[in-house]
Amino acid sequence: MKLNTNFVAWFRSVAPYINAFRGKTFVIAFSGEIVSDEKFVELVHDINLLASLGVRLVLVHGARPQIQTQLTENNLPTKSVMGMRVTDPATLQCVKESAGRVHVEIEALLSMGLPNSPMANASIRVTSGNFVTACPIGVLDGVDLMHTGKVRKINPAAIRSHLELGELVLISPLGYSPTGEIFNLTMENVATETAIALNAEKLIFLLDSIRIEEAETDKPDSLPRELTVVESKLLHKKIMHKSTKHTDEIKQFLHHAIKACEGSVDRVHLINRHIDGAILQELFTHNGIGCMISQESLQTLRKAGIEDVGGILQLIEPLEAEGVLVRRNRELLEIEIERFVILEHDGMMIGCAALYPFSDEKACELACLAVHPDYRNTGYGGLLLKQIEAETVILGYKKIFVLTTHAAHWFIEHGFSETKFTNLPKEKQGLYNYQRRSKVFIKNLQH
Ligand SMILES: CC(C)(COP(=O)(O)OP(=O)(O)OC[C@H]1O[C@@H](n2cnc3c(N)ncnc32)[C@H](O)[C@@H]1OP(=O)(O)O)[C@@H](O)C(=O)NCCC(=O)NCCS
Repeated sequence: MKLNTNFVAWFRSVAPYINAFRGKTFVIAFSGEIVSDEKFVELVHDINLLASLGVRLVLVHGARPQIQTQLTENNLPTKSVMGMRVTDPATLQCVKESAGRVHVEIEALLSMGLPNSPMANASIRVTSGNFVTACPIGVLDGVDLMHTGKVRKINPAAIRSHLELGELVLISPLGYSPTGEIFNLTMENVATETAIALNAEKLIFLLDSIRIEEAETDKPDSLPRELTVVESKLLHKKIMHKSTKHTDEIKQFLHHAIKACEGSVDRVHLINRHIDGAILQELFTHNGIGCMISQESLQTLRKAGIEDVGGILQLIEPLEAEGVLVRRNRELLEIEIERFVILEHDGMMIGCAALYPFSDEKACELACLAVHPDYRNTGYGGLLLKQIEAETVILGYKKIFVLTTHAAHWFIEHGFSETKFTNLPKEKQGLYNYQRRSKVFIKNLQH
């Protein structure tokens, strides 16, 4: 029974994400190390699941370790300048063979449909093509990098035409020039430029060495769960110029994440590939497991509209059932929706509050203040209260009162003091529910 309840609650909790992601374009980028890892098949299962949910997927893979192995096997030296491989004609041969082999292996795994596995009944159509036009990097520090290149342009229309057919697009770290030459590119460069060209909703990088901050003090080599582009730039500057403990991988990927967000990508996720189901945990849970970088702060506080009624009901119904909040049915909410403000986090409603003015007494009631349990104790309740207080002041009223059964101390700590119910506006006294025996708190506001 308990298992069923958990299952139903879990399924309902992921439903908003499923609806939000359907038809959206995600670019997922992973290195050659991940492909050679025995756990790669699990990542493929998760990718398959995303595709089944209607997410339009573009996968960009790397092939660095495979290229390195082939160079060693052929007794070819590795030449590099400023961290970049010099791709002479012999090296290019290894690059083509390694990238081609990795590409085929991924395609084979994506084609798997074994019964009793998450791939059962799946039939993903994978496609590839000459979507990436490249040009040479040129001469660095006096050394010609030859076939080492960078992305010159991506063909988003061609990629989209495949995505629209329900196909998954697989891209290798190779690009072609209009003169017919082949260039060795980095997976990061290809993924970033592809995500920008497609205006992708998400660019997801799977990393080896990322650690996420668990507490404020946990800073030396970790990343916060969320960063805006401005915050990412400040952090990047700091870790490039001061000797922090962040790895070279973090420095490099943070740079690409900033570039993508400054392009047109909504969100970039940096996640730890070693966590089981990393992509699913990042995308389908409130807190995620990685670092998400976005153009703007993910929080918005705004007036509610009629389309928010369903979300508010979802938020307050459990609290009504526990007797924490007074029951409000859908009809009442629809009538009173303009009294509500809502707080969103990355498009999901996480808090609400309502304001009822009483003009005779020049006072306002704060009602239906609620923060989603997963987001409590991070200041959101205080933020909603501040907004309601500001609106009270704008109305020219000086008093704000609230009736509560469960949050007396929270209001005391926010400057309220308990008062008798006879101090409520007359109209409110007439509506007082003697069975609930709510406590009444009042706060005088400064103008
Ligand atoms: C009350 C409520 C809105 C606070 O939201 P929140 O986002 O967690 O609030 P904040 O982050 O601003 O404040 C968190 C602090 O308040 C404390 N707190 C939270 N709920 C509390 C409560 N019911 N009673 C006393 N203290 C409480 C936390 O312990 C935390 O204290 P700390 O900073 O010392 O760790 C939220 O707990 C909630 O939705 N409760 C259910 C609905 C309710 O009771 N609404 C009020 C009646 S309208």
